Amino acid sequence: MCGIVAYIGNKNALPILINGLRRLEYRGYDSAGVAILNNGEFLSAKSVGKIDNLATKLNGQDLAGTYGIAHTRWATHGGVTEANAHPHADCTGKIILAHNGIIENYRELKEELGASHTYKSETDSEVLAHLIEIYYKGDLRKAVLEALARVRGTYGLVVMHSDHPNTLIAARMGSPLVVGIGDNEFYIGSDASPMLAYTKKVIFLDDGEVTEISREQMNTVNLKDINVAKHVEEIEWDEAQAQKQGFPHFMLKEIFDQPTVMADAIRGRYNLADGIAHLGGLNMSLEQMHSVKRVVLIACGTASYAALVGKYMFERLAGIPTEVDVASEFRYRDPIIDSQTLVFGISQSGETADTLAALKEAKRKGAFVRGIVNVVGSTIARETDGGVYIHAGPELAVASSKAFTNMVAALLLCALQFGRINKLTLATGQRLLNALQEIPEKMQIILQQSDKIKELAEKYQNCRDFFFLGRGINFPVALEGSLKLKEITYIHSEAYPGGEMKHGPIALLSPQFPVFAIMTKNQLYDKMRSNIEEVKARHAPIILLATEGDDKASELAQDIIYVPPTMEVLEPLLNVIPLQLFSYHLAVALGRDVDRPRNLAKSVTVE
Ligand code: G6P
Repeated sequence: MCGIVAYIGNKNALPILINGLRRLEYRGYDSAGVAILNNGEFLSAKSVGKIDNLATKLNGQDLAGTYGIAHTRWATHGGVTEANAHPHADCTGKIILAHNGIIENYRELKEELGASHTYKSETDSEVLAHLIEIYYKGDLRKAVLEALARVRGTYGLVVMHSDHPNTLIAARMGSPLVVGIGDNEFYIGSDASPMLAYTKKVIFLDDGEVTEISREQMNTVNLKDINVAKHVEEIEWDEAQAQKQGFPHFMLKEIFDQPTVMADAIRGRYNLADGIAHLGGLNMSLEQMHSVKRVVLIACGTASYAALVGKYMFERLAGIPTEVDVASEFRYRDPIIDSQTLVFGISQSGETADTLAALKEAKRKGAFVRGIVNVVGSTIARETDGGVYIHAGPELAVASSKAFTNMVAALLLCALQFGRINKLTLATGQRLLNALQEIPEKMQIILQQSDKIKELAEKYQNCRDFFFLGRGINFPVALEGSLKLKEITYIHSEAYPGGEMKHGPIALLSPQFPVFAIMTKNQLYDKMRSNIEEVKARHAPIILLATEGDDKASELAQDIIYVPPTMEVLEPLLNVIPLQLFSYHLAVALGRDVDRPRNLAKSVTVE
């Protein structure tokens, strides 16, 4: 996720662009840049870090002009450097663009363009400027359309040309773009917040649309250059609502982001024909991979529950003994680590002090140390010898949601990569990848039940204790569901493996102590069913998570949330979503500060 702002009109563009970037800073802020046409030439400035750094750098610089583009970056391809900050230009410096999304085939395109093109950055985006350069024969819109026809991936894109100071091209595929309409002027933003101070009239671009904008008008076409009628909407949102894309909280927006960012996490990282994953960033030779006899997953909080899911995946798919350690414990118990151990540090922020210190300890003991991280260029990403970015985009709500599912997806791809060089068959690899491709769509089906889950949450809002039960690969999901409830509702809750209830915790059950049980159709279904019968016999209220089509679920409970079926090893990717929604709606019902719960911090950089 990145943020784009552009302006074409008669006002001085710079303050509009910089203020617009500040509104979009929530979309990522590792670096930023701006380019404005001044006397027929683009003048630009870039800086690493927050928008304030760019603003300070611009102090005293004369970037006057009425036609410009700006970008705040959330790095995906290429580290956090000034050179990698947008906007990017072609060889002539006449074409300039800002891009949000991922160009999957950028390496092939670069190869095809050959050595005559010089690149100033390591980004996937820059190749687009050069592609437009070769197709440009005087008509910018046509050149952009031809370039986009060659691209595989996602984009929110704004392109300018210094010979066409009254033309701006914007295109969307998978990354949002909004056009704001003023008086002989147009604004563009990744959401409406940069333009709300100037206009309430907007047009939302849809996927596969390209629009050509002058100061006087805009004309939208599809990728086949056929006109598309767009209607103007009057926006009612205030700035904060626009940033949340109309969702009342970042957490709900992030829960709903999951189908999109899951697709981002897996895109281009596997080969269906060979039933294998390719995680080039792991930076391990085949020989090194074969030498791995043990995997250790180190993390804190939500990331540690993603790690527990990863343990099942590594053991089941790759046949490699795998342990999970909470980072703060790992360091102090003199862990047995050697050169045949592969240690992953899993972290959304990439800055968690305990995880970082544990990884240093593992490195000192000679293990392979890799990261599974969201924030590109973060300390863990830099201090490990390789790893996998989870591509969840910025996560702003303190309670993690989309980072969990994308960590699980990254771990699955790792386990699959190791599995296929070990014992996993081609057929299983292919079956898994086919099922994985269906996950984003199945996530959507679950998200559509948000209102029903809200009713359930409201029904239980006066309870003071909860149990979450799961077995096998769903036990970590129960742990994560329980953590979400604690974090944002402040209600006491505990998670247990279903089979463990009878060894103590069952003594707590009463009609005031609800049990949220995960009973999806997998190899432990019958076992879990018996455990829930035990709960039912103690008259505790039961909320069941069951697989669509399980007619028998209603014999156990009245409150049931159904999820689509999938392969057992992928179940956590779906099953966690109703638990996230349940906690979210319950927190809202109780009037809690959902995005900023008491006593917690998003990134814990102290021990
Ligand atoms: C904090 C956050 C949690 C998060 C944990 C690990 O405690 O409140 O939501 O799971 O840190 O963070 P990391 O950035 O390492 O994933």
